Amino acid sequence: MIRGLGPRRPQPVPVRCGGGRHAIRTARLVLYTPRDHLDAEIGVAAGSDSDAQRWFGWNPDTLVTPETAAHLLGIHDGNRAERLRAFPRAVRRELVRPVVLPDPDPRAAHRLLAVHAATGLVAGMSSLTPGNGGAIGIQLAPDFRGRGLGTELVEATARLGHEHLGLESVSAGTETSNHRCRGALEAAGFVECEGPALHTLPDGRVVDSAWYEHESAGTARCAGVPAAAVTRV
Ligand SMILES: CC(C)(COP(=O)(O)OP(=O)(O)OC[C@H]1O[C@@H](n2cnc3c(N)ncnc32)[C@H](O)[C@@H]1OP(=O)(O)O)[C@@H](O)C(=O)NCCC(=O)NCCS
Repeated sequence: MIRGLGPRRPQPVPVRCGGGRHAIRTARLVLYTPRDHLDAEIGVAAGSDSDAQRWFGWNPDTLVTPETAAHLLGIHDGNRAERLRAFPRAVRRELVRPVVLPDPDPRAAHRLLAVHAATGLVAGMSSLTPGNGGAIGIQLAPDFRGRGLGTELVEATARLGHEHLGLESVSAGTETSNHRCRGALEAAGFVECEGPALHTLPDGRVVDSAWYEHESAGTARCAGVPAAAVTRV
């Protein structure tokens, strides 16, 4: 007798772009558009610790507890079903819902979940918002910081903009004193540019800001961009 299907299996990791989803590979990271809300929540958990929040200043009610973050960041495709069981049924149902793509909101950010190829664990997540000057955001989980993976994450996100979304320019802003972030941006070839001296974080803190951009003349749109989004001339 079939007693129930249990948590749905995740979709396979996409290896090529299509249907609003993107797939990118670097030396140590496998990056792809989050498949479902669980992927996205794990990516968010990568930046929910106090070290990352020192720079992000997200609203406290959007953060998960350290215990939940550790639980989420220990998930890989081999133990996903088992770890999902720790959540109440209604939450589980929400987490396994596929991310609807393309996002109907034209101002929405494109996100890339970054999986550490050697362990299958989520190393971090990045975002790129075409409607906001191609602004990118990056976060690595604590265990993956300080090993040069930030540079790979920035490079992959710039490639998403240039080679997948057809953007000539992508940009980034960071707090002036965030040397790891600035180091990753500079190592990935971003150059400092003009920008507002101050920036207000979601929690209301006003911080000194440094701004960067990365340009590429050789742009392309990949098969992940829906045909309707491509302007033909
Ligand atoms: C920012 C972040 C993505 C950087 O990634 P990372 O893997 O830790 O950084 P890396 O190891 O790639 O270091 C990047 C570069 O900065 C340099 N660097 C690191 N710390 C530095 C410091 N304190 N001062 C100067 N340079 C520093 C590194 O030497 C490296 O340069 P190299 O490649 O030329 O050697 C990561 O630390 C993180 O997620 N932090 C928390 C969230 C955050 O700050 N996000 C960005 C908000 S704007």
